[in-house]
Amino acid sequence: MVTLVHCDTPSALYNPLRELAKAAADHGVFLIVDAVSSIGADEILFDQWRVGVLIGGPQKALNAPPGLTILAVSKAALDRAREVGRETFYMNYFLWEEWLEKGGFPYTMPDVLIYALKEGLDKILEEGLSSVFQRHKAARLAARRAVEALGLKPHPQTLECTCPTVTAFKTPIPAAQLRRHIWEKYGVLLAGSWGPLEGEVMRIGHMGVQASLDHLATAVAALGAGLRDLGIDADVEKAVDAVVEALGDGENRRGTRRVV
Ligand SMILES: Cc1ncc(COP(=O)(O)O)c(C=O)c1O
Repeated sequence: MVTLVHCDTPSALYNPLRELAKAAADHGVFLIVDAVSSIGADEILFDQWRVGVLIGGPQKALNAPPGLTILAVSKAALDRAREVGRETFYMNYFLWEEWLEKGGFPYTMPDVLIYALKEGLDKILEEGLSSVFQRHKAARLAARRAVEALGLKPHPQTLECTCPTVTAFKTPIPAAQLRRHIWEKYGVLLAGSWGPLEGEVMRIGHMGVQASLDHLATAVAALGAGLRDLGIDADVEKAVDAVVEALGDGENRRGTRRVV
């Protein structure tokens, strides 16, 4: 069995799921994928790529509140679970299988969260999947160009290895200081990172509705201004221009256009 994080949010590292799933399937290895921060932002062909189990979350590119787990379970996974035969209650696939047939739920469902998820999914389907995926790619490029225009080093260095939902970069001053300044002065909350990257790497999220011109331009302007305030030479105008160039055209604004 192999477990894989498709989009590792704290480091912005993007794993090539299609290729890794093929390698796993060709070697008869069962694959479990954490797609919490990629589901709804990039294509995942669960059956065709022969993924065993895929786990998603509503709170990132699906535009919904946290609190639900989204699971895709292959027939191979169900067969394997049957072989193992462990009977749990809350996380029991078979209970769900049984209730899906009966039409109902095995326990009380958070209906408000389900309605919110439906709204998020409807928004995606209205825009169209290929447009949503393209918009996330454009946001990744916009954020990359903006970060580089500010004189910062992206992490990871290669664009194709970077998540479509988050862009990370090395910070020239301690992340906690820069983040606090940007939050207090501009009201924009940029994320830090975890583990070995903590303190050195910061992130701009561009997932779901955030993969848009207005969100990214705001984040980039606040980042550039924050750097400048703290004595780092940063070309804010060039960075914002980079976002406008990558995300400003009509096609990439479908689904996120707002009347102001
Ligand atoms: C890639 C990834 N997996 C899992 C999680 C955990 O999701 P949750 O906090 O809803 O359990 C996160 C949350 O940020 C994530 O980014």
